[in-house]
Amino acid sequence: MRSALFLVLATFLSVISTTTQAARIANIQNRDQVPAGPNINADIGASQPWNDPSEFILGKNNFTISSTPTTRYYDWIISRQNIAPDGLMRPMLLVNGMFPGPLVEANTGDRIVVKVTNHLTVGTALHWHGMFQNGTNWMDGTTGITQCPIPAGGSFTYNFTVPTQWGTYWWHAHAGSQYVDGIVGPLIIHSPNEPHLEEYDEDVIVMMSDFYHTTTAPLLSYYLSEESDGTEPTPDNGLINGRNSFNCSNDALANFPTNTTNCVSNSPQSVFNFDAGKRYRLRLINTGAFAEFQFSIDQHNLTVIEADGTDLQPAQVQRIPIHIGQRYSAIVTANQAVDNYWVRAVMNTYCVGDNAALNLTTTAMVHYNGAATVDPQAPVSDSQDWGQPQYIGRCLDLSADMLKPWVAQDAPPADVTYVLNMSFQKLTKKHVSLGYVNSTSWVPLKNAATLNQAKRGVTNFAASQFVISMNQTQTIELIINNYDEGSHPFHLHGHQFWVVGGGQGSYLPGKSPLNTTNPVRRDTATLQTFGYTILRFVNDNPGMWAFHCHIDWHMQAGLLVQFLSHPEIVKTFKIPEDVKALCGAA
Ligand code: C2O
Repeated sequence: MRSALFLVLATFLSVISTTTQAARIANIQNRDQVPAGPNINADIGASQPWNDPSEFILGKNNFTISSTPTTRYYDWIISRQNIAPDGLMRPMLLVNGMFPGPLVEANTGDRIVVKVTNHLTVGTALHWHGMFQNGTNWMDGTTGITQCPIPAGGSFTYNFTVPTQWGTYWWHAHAGSQYVDGIVGPLIIHSPNEPHLEEYDEDVIVMMSDFYHTTTAPLLSYYLSEESDGTEPTPDNGLINGRNSFNCSNDALANFPTNTTNCVSNSPQSVFNFDAGKRYRLRLINTGAFAEFQFSIDQHNLTVIEADGTDLQPAQVQRIPIHIGQRYSAIVTANQAVDNYWVRAVMNTYCVGDNAALNLTTTAMVHYNGAATVDPQAPVSDSQDWGQPQYIGRCLDLSADMLKPWVAQDAPPADVTYVLNMSFQKLTKKHVSLGYVNSTSWVPLKNAATLNQAKRGVTNFAASQFVISMNQTQTIELIINNYDEGSHPFHLHGHQFWVVGGGQGSYLPGKSPLNTTNPVRRDTATLQTFGYTILRFVNDNPGMWAFHCHIDWHMQAGLLVQFLSHPEIVKTFKIPEDVKALCGAA
């Protein structure tokens, strides 16, 4: 968000942000009272050709959870098409014409092979968010870092195994802002060894995201200009499993009106059909660009059992805050009266800006089989929201006591510590607000990838590339300070980290509390407004790995750093010819 106050005292900062917080909470209350009703009478189960709700119900796939490894083949075409996820027609980038894109589903031990044919007019690449890619760093799909883009008209096959992981992941384009324009989908890994397998009857994906009515190209050029003053584009809507409705007359109020006549109000929202008495594992994934969501289902408790692929000791909550890139599994039991209930995903206004077209509450419906079909003309049902959100205000992750890994592991003591200061500053000639990790604002390399350079023995990377080399397997500690009023969901490629600390203001080594006793292990953690986060990980995965804010605008503004793990081993990598060829002669 806006510009950073780089060297101001922490106490002073917390005074400033309390004031903004109060103003913003007032704002939530003004704008959040009347969630729009889904209009689902004749539309329950109505299919939009680009969206297949049955894809999200894993039990419908004839998938067998097994420990016998196999290879899963996918054949994908990426193209640009006009679709209307919320009723407003806009150009999007789609895989096989689907939004969200196709499900990748595998067992631990399987090989995943995805042939990607690029029918766009620009290059692309796909990243498998959360996959370790140990031994296949070049399959990580990160343009400018682990590969050059798959050229327009070209094709490339991703091919990797998943030897040790299971849980909820996702895949998305990692080239410019393309994922925000639609190139996203779920990636689910099963294992017969999952500890909570017997605790649910159905397995359901719930992807939520903010949504823009314009493509990212104009939004990004606005954001990276003097005019924006560092204010990110505010979404126009939110989606659950790629659907929502929109009141087309609100387009005129939007920050970026589309003026389209191709808009239909009351487009069908997502509906989850429940059988009374059954238990549902909901796999929540925030695939958005900017907004954190608070997820809840009216009158139904949520039992959290997984965070980012780590099984947890069950913890009961009413709302789950989920930031971009994060995943949670929660079990919900259909133990209420046979009726219809709202599913709510509420954007946290503390972390998104203003847009008069935006309804902060995205809804979907839980429909108990046997309940009346809701008539859109009738008054909203008596479905009751939970009370005050526990996590109102600053965007924070679920607290540490809710996130206790099932397989306990203490965080080892740090061998090496790096301090990473995150800020936004206007140092360019044109006073554009850019994101800085210490003093570097990342710009992706063109026609080159830092991995390929490291393989050739380069140690002196371009000034726009902040590469930290780690020569031996050690426990790395990251002290991450946030000198910005925005929250930042930081994602580490190729690893999980222990979240050993975090708080407001500045970290005081030796004074600020750390929790090293079985802290949560995950791959995406929220760095709070003007606060700090302490992460530890073991760099046991040789390669070039991105660590970045997953708010797409912030990554595009430069909030990314790279870890070169074991440069001597990277020099011996046998990068496949087809991967190297993507960088042409370079
Ligand atoms: Cu979801 Cu760099 O990744």
